Amino acid sequence: MSTLKAVRGTRDLLPPETSLWNRIEATARQVFARYNFGEIRTPVFEDTSLFARGVGEETDIVSKEMYTWEDRARAQSEKPQSLTLRPENTAGVVRAYIEHKLGETGQLQKLYYIGPQFRRERPQKGRYRQFSQIGAEVIGPPSAGSESPLRDAEVLEMLAALLDALGITGWTLEINSVGSSADRARYNEVLRAALIPVAPQMCGDCQRRAVTNPLRVLDCKVPEDQPIIDALPKITDSLDEASKTHFAAVLAALDAAAVPYTRNHRLVRGLDYYTRTTFEFTHGGLGAQNALLGGGRYDGLSEAIGGPKAPGIGFAMGEDRLVLTLQSLESAPPQVADAYIAPLGESLNPAALALARELRLAGLAIELGDGSFRLKKSFEAADKTARSIVILGEDERASGILTVKNFASGTQTKVPRTELVAFLAK
Ligand code: HAM
Repeated sequence: MSTLKAVRGTRDLLPPETSLWNRIEATARQVFARYNFGEIRTPVFEDTSLFARGVGEETDIVSKEMYTWEDRARAQSEKPQSLTLRPENTAGVVRAYIEHKLGETGQLQKLYYIGPQFRRERPQKGRYRQFSQIGAEVIGPPSAGSESPLRDAEVLEMLAALLDALGITGWTLEINSVGSSADRARYNEVLRAALIPVAPQMCGDCQRRAVTNPLRVLDCKVPEDQPIIDALPKITDSLDEASKTHFAAVLAALDAAAVPYTRNHRLVRGLDYYTRTTFEFTHGGLGAQNALLGGGRYDGLSEAIGGPKAPGIGFAMGEDRLVLTLQSLESAPPQVADAYIAPLGESLNPAALALARELRLAGLAIELGDGSFRLKKSFEAADKTARSIVILGEDERASGILTVKNFASGTQTKVPRTELVAFLAK
């Protein structure tokens, strides 16, 4: 029988790497709390039409990458339903916002999420079929200030603070405005016309996109096509006055907060719901899949899926890519316990468990050995997993004085049990 393996594009995360994941998530939760965001958890699968209507039928995500299945009816009263593993979380958050009538509070909803997403992409470093996103959305009725450029700038400033808190240095914020949906439609036509004379000199994908979805030409990475793309009309020139003013106000607030950015006229993003501000944070340490995170404004998404007017802005960070970036920046210290307890003989196992419990309750990380091990084997195991070894023999139990050896210094010390916690915590 062939051995079973994790499915292509999925991975097991093992210690010690998982401690890095936990550190990232704990830091994100702390930063979100400082900005007064609350956590939302939406289901991992949704009705397929949510993504078709929200993210857009023509996007790569919806047309090629979704895990969709027909969920059979189990009873006559049930109907079969097309379900999809979520490829992203914004559509689910906006669905929940509508379903729970969060707009009726009249307040801005500031929500964050951490969890798995699924896309059938070609796997490579930094690109998986199951990956994890840490994201946040700010959404609410216009009367709550949800359209204000200050919301965009605050989200971007929060991201700069979060990346700093994570210890990620050397990132670049690329920003653009794609205007209103009318601006985008107008630009699409301008681009379509501009591509007619030049498309025959471009790559096969671009020739196809020039007809089906001209905006996607801007994503092309083929080196020979770059001078042609750079000479195409820019979306900035198709924006209406209101979108131009909005964008200028976002940039002015970023300048005031000293958040550095680069304007990228080609950043139109691959999801259909974006309006006005779009952005990505990139990092050189990531190679080809260099987007640490992406996001933008989606002022019409709620209406597109049957809800009230509820402009919003948000982002999602690829947690897998945060881990890769941090690994490229630092060599993670191996995970070691504060102490290893070595009972000398199986009869001392119960006493060793009692000692381990006492030390763990005091907050120390303890590895518990086994009395059947010879002392040499206990030392070898302890050296791999802990900073110190605590020897618990009959003498130690009777006298309450324990023998502790620290591996880094090589010193062996007699420590009274009452002082053990303080000694090991040093
Ligand atoms: P997105 O650009 O599709 O946007 O994904 C955001 C981030 O998720 C990417 O920058 C990348 O770091 C990570 N990511 C995407 N696909 C993969 C993959 N296959 N493997 C590993 N990481 C991946 C969204 O998902 C939007 N919902 C963001 C948003 C929130 N816009 C507004 N609010």
